Amino acid sequence: MPLNLAVAASICSLFCSLFAIVSAEDPYRFFNWNVTYGDIYPLGVRQRGILINWQFPGPDIHSVTNDNLIINVFNSLDEPFLLSWNGIQNRRNSFEDGVYGTTCPIPPGKNFTYILQVKDQIGSFYYFPSLAFHKAAGGFGGIRILSRPRIPVPFPDPAGDYTVLIGDWYKSNHTDLRAHLDKGKKLPLPDGILINGRGSGAAFNVEQGKTYRLRISNVGLQNSLNFRIQNHKMKLVEVEGTHTLQTTYSSLDVHVGQSYSVLVTADQPARDYYIVVSSRFTSTVLTTTGILHYSNSAGPVSGPIPGGPTVQIDWSLNQARSIRSNLTASGPRPNPQGSYHYGLINTTKTIRLSSSAGQVNGKQRYAINI
Ligand SMILES: *[C@@H]1O[C@H](CO)[C@@H](O)[C@H](O)[C@H]1NC(C)=O
Ligand SMILES: *[C@@H]1O[C@H](CO)[C@@H](O)[C@H](O)[C@H]1NC(C)=O
Ligand SMILES: *[C@@H]1O[C@H](CO)[C@@H](O)[C@H](O)[C@H]1NC(C)=O
Ligand SMILES: *[C@@H]1O[C@H](CO)[C@@H](O)[C@H](O)[C@H]1NC(C)=O
Ligand SMILES: *[C@@H]1O[C@H](CO)[C@@H](O)[C@H](O)[C@H]1NC(C)=O
Repeated sequence: MPLNLAVAASICSLFCSLFAIVSAEDPYRFFNWNVTYGDIYPLGVRQRGILINWQFPGPDIHSVTNDNLIINVFNSLDEPFLLSWNGIQNRRNSFEDGVYGTTCPIPPGKNFTYILQVKDQIGSFYYFPSLAFHKAAGGFGGIRILSRPRIPVPFPDPAGDYTVLIGDWYKSNHTDLRAHLDKGKKLPLPDGILINGRGSGAAFNVEQGKTYRLRISNVGLQNSLNFRIQNHKMKLVEVEGTHTLQTTYSSLDVHVGQSYSVLVTADQPARDYYIVVSSRFTSTVLTTTGILHYSNSAGPVSGPIPGGPTVQIDWSLNQARSIRSNLTASGPRPNPQGSYHYGLINTTKTIRLSSSAGQVNGKQRYAINI
């Protein structure tokens, strides 16, 4: 199998590079990534994490609408490795989407250059390893696509723009977790929750009176998470590339795979405040905290850690229903986007998607519409 994979991968690399089409007039951004194992201590114990250029989480990709991203990935692991670019549309073909069966994995010791154009896209996304449960060991990072300078954005430029990757985390490594599923068992309750790779103390610096953009993605394995900041409100402005009606929330549910942008104004007395992420729909609630640090802070975090919703499903559904696209705001192109009759289009086909969990040949697997 590994040999076949290796052969398949080199054939695929050949074809993929032949088929890769980039638009000459748009800017290029080059990335050289070395994917290695390395020691990480997110929950205080040593773990063998998957690092990209010695970073955990991996480096952010910063880009502007229509940029060509040339990402040369060297796989220095001992297993085939594959990256998926969550939310990147890959117009014209899906060769490099990074899902097994569509894109070949990179064999150990080899490299592959992903060529992606973020054509007509804006917003907040992330990348992650899509094979072999590697995601349980790291290898993920943020992707942001800024609007081109001429395109209006429906809020003032923030004073700072932070990537906030949240996710459940296990002390067991990815090979042990994989073996657990293959024995037909479901994953146990995670050992903790990470914010930007840290089990506690992830800090975000702000200046009093200024407004910041937080791009929050749930990069975890299975748990929905609630995100909130002590004494601060969040104004939701973008969800995965669409500007939303700007609604204010005191806490937000972020399900696995979702990315939300919120604006937070440092409008409180100058001190440090808790950033809280807790698990949803679990009987034992896991909670982790980070810090919103005012540059003129008069003191450390204090007071009780603010609570959030725990098992209430209706709360989560109602919040999701409250999120609406702003149909008059610009997207990747100036408004109108070409679909401004949305509310008037009659439904002609309804597709229902339903997730399920079951066993295939004694192994625990998850599916859609089976
Ligand atoms: C990646 O890192 C490994 C481990 O340090 C090193 O042996 C290898 O040469 C590096 N590869 C590249 C392409 O930099
Ligand atoms: C592997 O990396 C080398 C050195 O950067 C590069 O010349 C080559 O094109 C890469 N191969 C693939 C398949 O991306
Ligand atoms: C995971 O941990 C097990 C022991 O629990 C060990 O045998 C295995 O080599 C580890 N895998 C990795 C990739 O570190
Ligand atoms: C929607 O976007 C428009 C255009 O930028 C803006 O004027 C308006 O305030 C936005 N509406 C809401 C509710 O966010
Ligand atoms: C939707 O259906 C109504 C009733 O059949 C019809 O009058 C209307 O023109 C349709 N709208 C569009 C956009 O096709």
